[in-house]
Amino acid sequence: MSKFLRASLGADFGYTPGEQPPDDGGWLKLNSNESPLPPSATLAAAVAGAAADLARYPSPVAEPLRGVLANLHGVAHEQVFVANGADQVLDCCFRAFVSPGDVVVRTQPGYSLLPVLAALFSVRDDPVAVEDDGALPAEFALRPAALRVVVNPNSPTGHWIEPGSLDAQLRDAEGIVVIDEAYCDFAPASCLPLLGAHANWLVVRTLSKSHALAGLRVGYAVGDPAVIADLNAVRDSYPVDRCAIAGAIAAIEDVEHHRLIVDTVIRERARLSDRLRELGWSVVPSQANFVFASPPPGNTAGAVAQRLRDHRILVRHFALAGLDGALRITVGDGPATDRLLAMISGLDGSNVGGT
Ligand SMILES: Cc1ncc(COP(=O)(O)O)c(C=O)c1O
Repeated sequence: MSKFLRASLGADFGYTPGEQPPDDGGWLKLNSNESPLPPSATLAAAVAGAAADLARYPSPVAEPLRGVLANLHGVAHEQVFVANGADQVLDCCFRAFVSPGDVVVRTQPGYSLLPVLAALFSVRDDPVAVEDDGALPAEFALRPAALRVVVNPNSPTGHWIEPGSLDAQLRDAEGIVVIDEAYCDFAPASCLPLLGAHANWLVVRTLSKSHALAGLRVGYAVGDPAVIADLNAVRDSYPVDRCAIAGAIAAIEDVEHHRLIVDTVIRERARLSDRLRELGWSVVPSQANFVFASPPPGNTAGAVAQRLRDHRILVRHFALAGLDGALRITVGDGPATDRLLAMISGLDGSNVGGT
């Protein structure tokens, strides 16, 4: 850090993403909840077609992608805000809805970008611990806040709250309520149908996970037209480039490929969870594209993560109180699950315990 960085941010400021493989040598990347399958085969031609037009700025509101998303969810174009990934949508929520000194209520655990944004925008981060089963305590809705964020399914646990419960619990919550549904396609249901009843709710989605487009950077929010207009007022001039607009449309239109990604993840999630439990791991029931699992007694999560890394398998270990006993493991395809499980069954407690 230089001496010029805002002092209030502190020396260690910043979001810590999952490690990128350091070389091309056969790594299995299960640490950033990316798709195990590549994107739709139609994507390359769509992106190449858009590349021919790169001399011209894209639509500031990401049309025609915005319209495709509106049709997908049965809402008006004016109810959709598209940005450079869900991360940028969240950033715009902070830009639009909080002033320095305001309070942002979020769950703990939850998405680790949120406290970073809170610091960046000089707002008070007010984490509320979820119940052991992932449920929201009543105070989550009651604490005063300009912005309130629920991640559903949650990260890193994979816990999912049924939309009806969120409807009942957050009905009277003040301020803007963001339901971050980055992982919703792997869960039984969405909060999108509830938006009509809540003018202060925003449902945030991404194409990074179930459409295999983490590298293209497309996320969006759906909500009341007035709140969406607020987001547009604070966004970058052209947040989504022409290639991303065209690629995202191609991915959304390839419904069969999207289904294949979701079905593969759901199938492998069950297989991975079952087998880990047979091996003595404790696994949180997940509705996302990852599992949060603690190794059997005698092993520390950090040591297991290191042993896996020695074998070129990357998983995520959060060295934070309350989370450090488990690993967040992205669900891969069949061969990825086989490779991971073969490695884990070969680890015995005496090799990895306590070191
Ligand atoms: C809960 C949650 N929200 C948002 C995002 C960011 O998605 P995007 O890749 O669209 O920025 C992630 C990424 O992992 C996430 O876990």
